[in-house]
Amino acid sequence: MKRILSGIQPSGKLHIGNYFGMMQTMIRQMESADLYVFIVDLHALTSVHDRERLRKGTLEAAADFLALGLDPERCTFWVQSDVPEVCELTWMLSTITPMGLLERCHSYKDKVAKNIAPSHGLFSYPVLMAADILLYQAEIVPVGKDQKQHLEVARDIAIKFNNTFGETFVVPEPAISGSTAIVPGLDGQKMSKSYGNTIPIFMDEKPLRKVVMSIQTDSTPVEEAKDPETCNLYALLKLFASPEKMAEVHDLYVNGGAAYGYLKQDLFELINDYFVDARAKKKDLLNNLDYLREVLAGGAEKAREKATVTLDLARDRIGLKY
Ligand code: ADP
Ligand code: TRP
Repeated sequence: MKRILSGIQPSGKLHIGNYFGMMQTMIRQMESADLYVFIVDLHALTSVHDRERLRKGTLEAAADFLALGLDPERCTFWVQSDVPEVCELTWMLSTITPMGLLERCHSYKDKVAKNIAPSHGLFSYPVLMAADILLYQAEIVPVGKDQKQHLEVARDIAIKFNNTFGETFVVPEPAISGSTAIVPGLDGQKMSKSYGNTIPIFMDEKPLRKVVMSIQTDSTPVEEAKDPETCNLYALLKLFASPEKMAEVHDLYVNGGAAYGYLKQDLFELINDYFVDARAKKKDLLNNLDYLREVLAGGAEKAREKATVTLDLARDRIGLKY
């Protein structure tokens, strides 16, 4: 069984980009993989400095995964900071990470351009992410396309460590799903919590309708032909509609007759139906925080067992065991 690992930041409400880019892929692998799923609260600290928001975000992200079908009995599911070994490994890895490797990361530059404070933590974010992956000897890491470069950094760090100190870490492979590699947001840019252009997974019906209706489209008249490949509404519909429905929609785009208003209404109904059960389940979970905390504590214990073995090996290789 392959060990598959991925994490998500609790820095805002999880959205359908997160769902199709990562969560659904992970949940589907429960039967066939040794699955590690975690909520990266230490990473979220690079952009969230608000105690209540972080606490609530962490619990909500946990509830989101469980509501969407993740079974904590059939995977290891925990909160990153509950396994402090990751911080020690981060430091070890930092000392062999070339500055140039981090300086080349787009994500840092993009986040600073979006007004996230350029802290040392934000700059060294990929090293903590590498530690997340290497600590559990993960073989495969499913992420959205935006994380591809971070995975390359993790691989480079693993290879450098192994070359310097001897075989220690598994060199991880990214798994990026083609069809949903980048889910567009309301404005057509990548859907992202930090861009304020998201469709949250668990939005109630009324606000959901409003958000879907606000998807930006061009002003091509209904009867004119439109290019489906460049339309964000079309890309979003494709995630939820059946192949038959999409064939009809495709026809309307190519031959004229696609009315954005009606298509948005269709999309709203499809999204609403898709998540209706999970939404109810999430409400139940948030009414039972003791249960949620118990699940996370159990997950942290399992994760920590694995983490201590790897950290011990790394300490030994590096010369910290005397
Ligand atoms: P955000 O950009 O909203 O802050 P994160 O960076 O926390 O999202 O991403 C969590 C996971 O969801 C990552 O695996 C990421 O690649 C994936 N992801 C985020 N946004 C999208 C998107 N628009 N399309 C596809 N995958 C996405
Ligand atoms: N940086 C990732 C993101 O923003 C989250 C993350 C942190 C992660 N550690 C990870 C993803 C380890 C995969 C594996 O999406």
